[in-house]
Amino acid sequence: MIKVREILVTSALPYANGYIHLGHMLEHVQTDIWARAMKAQGHQVTYVCADDAHGTSIMLKAEENGITPEEQIATVKASHEADFNKFLINYDNYYTTHSPENKYFSELIYRRLNSAGHISTHDVEQLFDPEKKLFLADRFVKGTCPECGSPDQYGDNCEVCGTTYDATDLIEPRSTLSDATPVLKVSKHYFFDLPEFEQFLKDWTRSEDRLQPSVANKLQEWFDAGLASWDISRDAPYFGFQIPDTPSDEPDKYFYVWLDAPVGYMASFKNLCEQLKGTENELDFDRYWAEENEHKTEVYHFIGKDIVYFHALFWPAMLAGSEFRTPTGVFAHGFLMVNGEKMSKSRGTFIKAETYAEHLHPEYLRYYFASKLSDKVEDINLDLEDFMQKVNSDLVGKVVNIASRSAGFLVKKHDGMLTEVCAEPRLLDDVTKTGDEIAAAYENREFSRAMRLIMQCADKANEYIDEKKPWALAKLEGTEQEVQDVCSVAINIFRQLMVYLAPVLPELTDNAKTFLNIDDLSFHSRNQWLLGHKINKFKPLMQRIDKKDIDAMVEASKASLGENKDAAQDATPANQNAQKKEKEVAVDNEQQIDYIGIEDFAKVEMKVAHVIACDYVEGADKLLQFTLDVGEDAPRNVFSGIRKFYEPEQLMDKKVICVTNLAPRKMKFGVSEGMVLSTGDPKKGLTVVTLPDECIIGDHLA
Ligand code: MSP
Ligand code: ZN
Repeated sequence: MIKVREILVTSALPYANGYIHLGHMLEHVQTDIWARAMKAQGHQVTYVCADDAHGTSIMLKAEENGITPEEQIATVKASHEADFNKFLINYDNYYTTHSPENKYFSELIYRRLNSAGHISTHDVEQLFDPEKKLFLADRFVKGTCPECGSPDQYGDNCEVCGTTYDATDLIEPRSTLSDATPVLKVSKHYFFDLPEFEQFLKDWTRSEDRLQPSVANKLQEWFDAGLASWDISRDAPYFGFQIPDTPSDEPDKYFYVWLDAPVGYMASFKNLCEQLKGTENELDFDRYWAEENEHKTEVYHFIGKDIVYFHALFWPAMLAGSEFRTPTGVFAHGFLMVNGEKMSKSRGTFIKAETYAEHLHPEYLRYYFASKLSDKVEDINLDLEDFMQKVNSDLVGKVVNIASRSAGFLVKKHDGMLTEVCAEPRLLDDVTKTGDEIAAAYENREFSRAMRLIMQCADKANEYIDEKKPWALAKLEGTEQEVQDVCSVAINIFRQLMVYLAPVLPELTDNAKTFLNIDDLSFHSRNQWLLGHKINKFKPLMQRIDKKDIDAMVEASKASLGENKDAAQDATPANQNAQKKEKEVAVDNEQQIDYIGIEDFAKVEMKVAHVIACDYVEGADKLLQFTLDVGEDAPRNVFSGIRKFYEPEQLMDKKVICVTNLAPRKMKFGVSEGMVLSTGDPKKGLTVVTLPDECIIGDHLA
């Protein structure tokens, strides 16, 4: 028996000022796969998340929409939850940072830090919008660059000459909120004394593999540069929690959104504990968060590389300074690129989760992300062409194909019964054992390695079926036993694959349970092979991706350009600038068509051909050999690369289209005297174009 580990995992809390896009989804899919894989290995895993509901942006967004911030965050939360649901993200709780639990823990942590002497105050001079009556963060100020004189630059750096400066240095600054000229105003701010935690953080970072090596190196750079106190207060008006215990004769202060945001992990968990009270799944809050239990349970945060500072410095320091346990690990991932570039609205590659789900099945993307994700902090490229090809060839062509090729014979001839004894124990044993490596790859967040191992197992199954050819055996006399043997082995391997893919494809594998007539897909269940077991009729488990659905999704993403303009991303100024730049690049993405004249087309001679014979070609695993009657004296010999998609008998006696004036091509196996037309893509799937029976052999197509 393995020791059951008690694990709490989180994904970063999405801002409540905009929609979920595929970049967010990468993170939630990564976390969800890991959580499911650890559960499947028998551990007790709790996965919580929430919306990050506070801050100026959300307040302004609500104002713009003419609603209260509370209404704003409620609407957005509902849409976020709907999106994550579609992508089968299986949280145990999805909460909000605007909650009583979060207020309670934020205040508690603050008070403990304060009484331990980790909070100080000092005056800060900042630009203030006299019309809107609020202090302006850098991204809300624009003006002329003090260095090169370029107009219309943001408050932190110049996009033209690259200089960084303080917003107060801008020439002729103005507020982007009201266009008013900001004035300098002083106010008292509260600071968390991060430098006091330097030694603690250095030890923490370097111990127990908490961080990926590249993240630990980044932290070293920050240590070398020197840590500074962190400004944790904001002035009214602000949507957030008021800082407690401030002098009553001074204006109210609020926690900066990043102070209470990570506390939201605890708050969401606490809320779950309350929900589960009295049930058999009860969870003990202190067991996961009290300092003394640090080594009894595990807490992991999955985050993007842009928010490492908050999770690997501020957050552990806040926890350590307030008698809570610190995270066991922080796992950072890179950013999502689409077609090799940053997501771009004008190219239609800034894709909302919702838009994706309207056109394509979320499990396609879950698999593609899995096939790309590793334990590294590398950017992940969603190449839409590669995406289609990989999903079609791996999931449809390899995995599902195993079941669809073998189930029919068992159901038709053997009442769905699998053999009592496995005819190929070595092969099945091999696939079963690979499961240990796959489990380890999941646990180490090397999902791409896990997917590679799984596809190698699928390849072995397909090679085995190709070699045994049950469809050919089934036509011979007295081969029932052998057909049942072969198909039973194939179905057993398929079942192992369903176990291995369950964390990535929860829906597909759940449907496969019905077909396989089993109710368990946990990792250890695979050790019990399906022998003398009855399966049900096979129903297609996954459709191929159709290119036109991808195109439609890209078009729909272009169409939503502009709407929700500043909502999508983190509110860091650097990021906003990047988005702004993207909008300015007007990309001409129209497909270039090279026209040909009718005279060129007329040169191609196509005729109705009758398939007199169709055969495998010894030694060629891609080809079928046709003998075609095209209405000439002698039949023609034509090779076609469709072996992967057809059994010869499926094409016998059919009428097809043959290009008859192609120059004959000498191949290793003989001369090909023409070409049979098909539709599709040779890498993914081809369909031979067949003609109605009434077509006359040798007639020209025009
Ligand atoms: N609200 C903060 C997180 C608080 S956690 C206590 C935040 N929100 S966010 O909505 O901007 O981002 C949420 C997560 O999505 C972050 O981990 C961020 O790195 C990730 N991503 C946002 N855009 C992304 C991509 N384009 N690609 C991959 N991940 C990205 O930050
Ligand atoms: Zn400049």
